[in-house]
Amino acid sequence: MINPRTFRDVLGTYPTGVCVITSVEADGRRHGLVVGSFTSISLDPPLVGFFPDKRSSTWPRIEAAGRFCVNVLGAEQLELCRRFAARSDDKFAELAHDHSPSGMPVFEDAIAWIDCRIEQVTEIGDHWLVVGAVEALGKRDEGTPLLFFRGQYHDLAELSD
Ligand SMILES: Cc1cc2nc3c(=O)[nH]c(=O)nc-3n(C[C@H](O)[C@H](O)[C@H](O)COP(=O)(O)O)c2cc1C
Repeated sequence: MINPRTFRDVLGTYPTGVCVITSVEADGRRHGLVVGSFTSISLDPPLVGFFPDKRSSTWPRIEAAGRFCVNVLGAEQLELCRRFAARSDDKFAELAHDHSPSGMPVFEDAIAWIDCRIEQVTEIGDHWLVVGAVEALGKRDEGTPLLFFRGQYHDLAELSD
């Protein structure tokens, strides 16, 4: 039997970037969810993935929309990260953003964005595995990513000094 606290502590030593998965439903409502589980999966065909918790209230809305955009957060976007990691009826209130080619929210300071159509959703334990087919993507040439490691946020610039 694996102790849940030990599981979290040990897996928390694996550093991740931080992304906001954004989407817009047919009625125009915008949704967003912070994930550390984003990963590149395949180049041919181009596929990426992430793992939303089955308890997420935002994921079913994104699934209904059928598509999403991954916003890779920069080190200066901690406030944005906190906003999208907390439960709220309108995480986008008073928030300016651009749009991906398919109309998904893209944050100006994101260091990369990846526009996807939902290709596959598979039940895995207490999470879903979501696979997205990449339809468009782009990046900024500057900026360091926001990192998450041992339960805390870090800036790559601070680590490389
Ligand atoms: C650094 C970080 C990484 C996270 N990674 C994930 C993740 O991979 N999958 C997930 O479902 N939730 C993840 N979360 C938690 C969700 O962001 C949070 O539970 C969710 O936004 C709660 O609101 P919701 O009900 O709107 O989904 C993460 C949170 C933080 C702060």
